[in-house]
Amino acid sequence: MNQKTLYFTVLISPLLVLSGLVSAGNRNISQAQAIATQKCSACHGIDGNSKNAQWPSIAGLNEKYILKQLKDFKNGSRISPEMESVVKSFESDKELAAFAKYFSKQKVKPISSPIIRSDTKNKLVDLKLGKELFSGKCIEYGIPACTACHGHQGQGGIDKKGNIYPRLINQYEEYNVKQLKLFRANKRINDSPAMMRNIALMMDDEDIESVAAYIASLGKVDK
Ligand code: HEC
Ligand code: HEC
Repeated sequence: MNQKTLYFTVLISPLLVLSGLVSAGNRNISQAQAIATQKCSACHGIDGNSKNAQWPSIAGLNEKYILKQLKDFKNGSRISPEMESVVKSFESDKELAAFAKYFSKQKVKPISSPIIRSDTKNKLVDLKLGKELFSGKCIEYGIPACTACHGHQGQGGIDKKGNIYPRLINQYEEYNVKQLKLFRANKRINDSPAMMRNIALMMDDEDIESVAAYIASLGKVDK
């Protein structure tokens, strides 16, 4: 082997190995896409952009967050009759991980909420109050800024300790209201150590509706 061939062999073979891995990864993703079309799209849409407020938009959610939720639905620490039957049909966490990867890579689209369509008839909604809650002006009532954990624009993220905060923007207003009420009623308990439950406990219905409407009004911000 002359020096030139040696050089090429050394340089190219790791690339070949790498490209082998990449295509295996793609295969998992396209398998996940095929199963997602079958098992998830009726509610969440093929690309995770749900068309109905009954079902959350899951496109572009953090991969680790999606996986955590799927495991939580499976182990019963988050309860949803719809999701329970879906996740129970998958034996391994590997299959769940493929969904998490697939949906996290989909682009989230703006959603249509009453506040965005300006047809809200909800008398409890006070956008000024919503903004104050969101940005931490209600800390004296024990309600920290949503932005402290969920990011400046509610875009979500992960902190240094590995806690995962979901995206709140481009999510259905109705869904966010429902989740806040579940946390408040101690019916969603997968926010160890009660990060959201402690906050929601301090909120009345007006606070919840107002902050959810305010978050929806930010909805056009890109991730
Ligand atoms: C029959 C309708 C239905 C199907 C099918 C379905 N889901 Fe869901 N999904 C829901 C509902 C309803 C919720 C919200 C549950 C709640 O209110 O807490 C949800 C919540 C979720 C969440 C949590 C979102 C968040 O922001 O916390 C994820 C992730 C998710 N689903 C993924 C999937 C995946 C992946 C599939 C397919 C393997 C799937 N779902 C199939 C109805 C469905
Ligand atoms: C101390 C950190 C922290 C603060 C502050 C905080 N959150 Fe959260 N929130 C979380 C965590 C952690 C979760 C996800 C729990 C889990 O793993 O399922 C969450 C989940 C949520 C969810 C459910 C999202 C989904 O996709 O299912 C909503 C809605 C929410 N928070 C709204 C708010 C609002 C509104 C505020 C401000 C009033 C707020 N949060 C402040 C930590 C926080």
